[in-house]
Amino acid sequence: MSSSSDVTVLVFGPYNGDGIAELERRFTVRHLKTRDIAELPEAERGGIRAVAVAGRIPNAAIDALPNLEIIGHFGVGYDGVDAGHAASRGVAVTNTPDVLTEEVADTTLGLLLMTVRELGLAEAYARAGRWEAEGPYPLTRFSLRGKTAGIMGLGRIGLAIAERLEAFGLEVAYHNRSRRSDVAYAYHDTLEGLAKAVDILIVAAPGGPSTDKAVNEGVLTALGAEGIFINIGRGSTVDEPALIDALKNGTIARAGLDVFADEPRIPADLMALPNATLLPHVASASRDTRRAMGDLVADNLSAWFAGEPLPTPVPESEAAGLSRAKAS
Ligand code: DGY
Repeated sequence: MSSSSDVTVLVFGPYNGDGIAELERRFTVRHLKTRDIAELPEAERGGIRAVAVAGRIPNAAIDALPNLEIIGHFGVGYDGVDAGHAASRGVAVTNTPDVLTEEVADTTLGLLLMTVRELGLAEAYARAGRWEAEGPYPLTRFSLRGKTAGIMGLGRIGLAIAERLEAFGLEVAYHNRSRRSDVAYAYHDTLEGLAKAVDILIVAAPGGPSTDKAVNEGVLTALGAEGIFINIGRGSTVDEPALIDALKNGTIARAGLDVFADEPRIPADLMALPNATLLPHVASASRDTRRAMGDLVADNLSAWFAGEPLPTPVPESEAAGLSRAKAS
């Protein structure tokens, strides 16, 4: 096995500053600031044994690195990395679960409160001096009191959201591909069924082909005119034009979104809607949590090059026997 400092890690695209510093403490780092592999000279490609990436890396970039062994993805959702393709080339993929769970769940409740109680609009009202000039902010149409919430994707983050919702006094239900045996929340075997049964629908599911545009016109219609929609998972999980129509037409009442189909672009139609609360993908974006995510990427790469089991390989890599480096 190599000493870590002999290993060159390619940081592919924009990446957290603390995360780069941690990689630099352990490895030789080459930072490609764009996501364009053509900008990495051919002569350097053979020297790259690991990649660290936050978000998307195309298969063409994986294929262009002949000695690549491992991709450390900064983020729990790794829909931007084709882990099956990587495995077919013998490349392991890791992600950063657990270290961001509580932060993302906290933000979800913040976004829910902003959406239901119009806290962002109320703050803008106060800052504009309108309280003094015009009187109190109007009473909000919605409240969390007496409401039921449905979670699409009751994984680690979904469960942490469910615990917080319970503490807020809400009844919780969920939809997953299959029922969990370790929770008592009401299970719905279709997303439409869940949407029909609850007042608030929260997406905490991963992106990728299995959830692509799962929240469609039918689901939004089932949620109904008093319904609140929250998305903290991935923008790809929602049919965004259908959501915009639903907000415009009153098919649903309000939406709170941290994620979008084509980040960082937010459709102008969505920006113009007063019943949409919009955040710029900040669910895990505190300095401490992002630092912990960067440390976990570095820990995975260190484990690989020390011949130790990977702390957090993704399931596709585990299934392909890539949860530790083969002894050389
Ligand atoms: C994740 O970890 O998947 C988040 O969306 C990144 O902030």
